[in-house]
Amino acid sequence: TVYSVSALILAYLCGSIPTAVWIGLAFYDIDVREYGSGNAGATNTFRVLGKKAGIPVMLLDILKGWTATNLAYFIGVSTTGPSNSIAYTNYALALGVAAVMGHLFPIFAGFRGGKGVATLFGMILAIHLHAALLCVVVFVVVLLATKYVSLSSIAAAFTYPIGVSFIFPTSIRSVVIYGMCICLLILVTHQKNIERLLKGKESKVNFFKKKTT
Ligand code: G3P
Repeated sequence: TVYSVSALILAYLCGSIPTAVWIGLAFYDIDVREYGSGNAGATNTFRVLGKKAGIPVMLLDILKGWTATNLAYFIGVSTTGPSNSIAYTNYALALGVAAVMGHLFPIFAGFRGGKGVATLFGMILAIHLHAALLCVVVFVVVLLATKYVSLSSIAAAFTYPIGVSFIFPTSIRSVVIYGMCICLLILVTHQKNIERLLKGKESKVNFFKKKTT
């Protein structure tokens, strides 16, 4: 219907809000894409501008995915059925993916966006709270152990399909299939990080310093 297509466009536009770029430009006169890893994401904002900018970018990027996925509630329920139905979940996932696409290719920032980790997390949070929390635990453990954000993101992404298949099994098979697609997407967006990790050249987080460029 017209409503569901409009919601998909709205989700894309919501994901397209380039929080890292806009916060950097508005408060520091810096485009974070010109420094650090060149990525318009929370990690690079932390790296280039510190936690005062990094935390809001992270929270807003999560919020983008969460809000877009929950748009299904306003438009979906009447057309797709209750929020535990397969049709509703598929529609919510499609909205989340639209937001992630917006984050990766933002119309408001020359289509050069981030790697999708925070926005995907927002989407997972809206779909499957327990699996999302499990991803956070894995992310934090890997980050504390290795200090590589990219490796932690990859590990968290792989946790999701495993989580929804075995630990908190869901009867909706598309959730598992989407989970596998998320892993692929994260591997694709982290290609450069993986190359650097293999060469031992990936930058590590310094938990005690404000800026780590
Ligand atoms: O959230 C993206 C993260 O996994 C890697 O970011 O800037 O280190 O490439 P970055």
